[in-house]
Amino acid sequence: MSSTTSPRIQLSAPHLGGQELSNIQNAIAENMIAVGSYITAFELAVAKKVGVPHAVALASGTAALHLALLGLGVKRGDSVWCSSLTFCGSANPISYVGAQPVFIDCDIHTWNLDPALLAQGLDDAAKKGSLPKAVICVDLYGQCAHYDAIIAACSRYEVPLIEDAAEALGAHYHGRAAGSFGRASILSFNGNKIITTGGGGMLLSHDANFIAQARHLSSQARDPAAWYEHTKIGYNYRLSNINSALGCGQMVVLEDRVLARRRVYSRYQKQLGNIPGISFAPDLDAETGTRCTRWLTVILLDPAIIRIAPLALMQRLEDLSIDSRPVWKPMHLQPIFSGCRVLGGSVSESLFIRGLCLPSSSSLTDDEQDRVIAAIRTAVTR
Ligand SMILES: Cc1ncc(COP(=O)(O)O)c(C=O)c1O
Repeated sequence: MSSTTSPRIQLSAPHLGGQELSNIQNAIAENMIAVGSYITAFELAVAKKVGVPHAVALASGTAALHLALLGLGVKRGDSVWCSSLTFCGSANPISYVGAQPVFIDCDIHTWNLDPALLAQGLDDAAKKGSLPKAVICVDLYGQCAHYDAIIAACSRYEVPLIEDAAEALGAHYHGRAAGSFGRASILSFNGNKIITTGGGGMLLSHDANFIAQARHLSSQARDPAAWYEHTKIGYNYRLSNINSALGCGQMVVLEDRVLARRRVYSRYQKQLGNIPGISFAPDLDAETGTRCTRWLTVILLDPAIIRIAPLALMQRLEDLSIDSRPVWKPMHLQPIFSGCRVLGGSVSESLFIRGLCLPSSSSLTDDEQDRVIAAIRTAVTR
């Protein structure tokens, strides 16, 4: 089929359920656009699902990370360690507070922060008296990191962990939900995520005071007074009632969306997994109580076997109106973070060079997916 006649297949499209529209209509009918009861309802629904008692809905996942760092007292001159293989939204907030990022490579079993590198790095830093003020650990593409080992390493030196579960709502690790592992954890409801508010995020914590402070900062840090009184610099980071109404509707279908994305992955796996030189991002699903959501299905192309490079394959797919994306470019290779320290680096560099994210929407039809599969088969076998 030519690109002019084929409808575009997106990488990760918003997928509405049945309730979003009526929620939004209710909010409009009540004229509760900016503030209203959907905000609290959304916070409660997400907190319950994740199993964390306190949450504040925010304008983005990036804003949530910014408030998490402020809540931990991170400031200019401190260092914050962060997964290198991630989106810049994980790392930029470190710069917002004037701290210095140190990037940590991933392990090949999860594509997430390597617990052994972290533990060794913390031991070395402790000896030098230069422990980080926080560690940000990302759950990439819907797969939780190895938290047993990561929490043990951080706890040893009482370094607070921030979990960046922006891509992993609905995932589990050893019986606990993604978003429940950090001193503070964040989620994103950006348009490409497993559920969306059209843009939004959430900060979660087991500590009520931590969330109360973040809530205060998120609405310009207005102090209690009849007039506008401010003793701190605040931010305009709140999520609106309209966006939260959308989020409440999306929470109803979250489990369906996880199952649909996992099914998309299984079909790719069955139909492309037998091609020599193609492999898939790992998961820890064999471990008890562990589930990857497969937010995005990611393949690796072995250059010794497959002649087409990921970027050339991406162009072939683009010619057929099919979206795909390279694996995140590691933060330690980004010009904005050049000169920052990195522990390891070769694993994420190799995944970046060999990987490609495939269309993974929960609304992807079998026919659309067959188009993607046929295009990849043709490109890699010719
Ligand atoms: C791993 C990760 N962290 C943080 C973010 C930032 O979230 P937001 O776009 O809601 O600011 C994203 C993506 O959007 C992400 O994928």
